[in-house]
Amino acid sequence: MSEGRVTVNGAVVQTLGTKVIPGTDVVAVDGKTYELPSEVITFMLHKPAGYVTTMDDPQGRPTVASLLPLDEHPALFPVGRLDIDTTGLLLCTTDGELGHQLMHPRFHVPKRYIALVEGALSEEEAEQLRHGIQLEDGMTAPAKLWIATAEEKKRWADLMGTGEGASGSKRHGGRRSRAALEKSGTWVAIEICEGRNRQVRRMFEALDHPVIALHRQSYGPLTLEGLERGSLRMLSDEECAALQTACHPREE
Ligand code: URA
Repeated sequence: MSEGRVTVNGAVVQTLGTKVIPGTDVVAVDGKTYELPSEVITFMLHKPAGYVTTMDDPQGRPTVASLLPLDEHPALFPVGRLDIDTTGLLLCTTDGELGHQLMHPRFHVPKRYIALVEGALSEEEAEQLRHGIQLEDGMTAPAKLWIATAEEKKRWADLMGTGEGASGSKRHGGRRSRAALEKSGTWVAIEICEGRNRQVRRMFEALDHPVIALHRQSYGPLTLEGLERGSLRMLSDEECAALQTACHPREE
């Protein structure tokens, strides 16, 4: 075999096909070390509620890191953030450049969310949200928004499940049941290109319709289609290329 010429982290390789982690393991042949090209890999995760989008939480809450294959891909990091109660599509990558582009405000990739908000959202309020509303960090860019059809309402309620992603109604001291909130609330889809902190929640709060449940359905050309809650899958080369193409510089 290698006659003891190859070492990984100083240990002689005994088995053909020994796996190494590029960027982490030190591979040497006849004592000379070789830099392995760093692999880039991107996953989509169907984030469940109750997980913080961070690699380590000082408060000890469950983190998305616990759902990632970090043993094999230790350089993975989440692209942007979903709030602890938000469910849905979270990209995680080892590709620093892609992550940077996707998060940079100059590039706007549309992200679609489904939200259940408190109260009856009027068409006039929907129009305000579409045009842009004033938040403490400035006006929001134009957004797409529609109120769910009866069929969508049912599908989205099933998708998000009772209690899943529900942050409860602070306004009512958490006393009202999810069923009651669903009955009096409004299901909407909203598509935004920005990625400000808690943006969707703040947009609805600004109009006095706090978000009860929030789910990210798509990110640019990618959707969660068929991916179970808590599961992840690797993106294909075609999907990565489509994601790159979706990063348009914003027109100022
Ligand atoms: N907007 C929010 O308010 N929260 C999220 O988790 C994502 C977008």
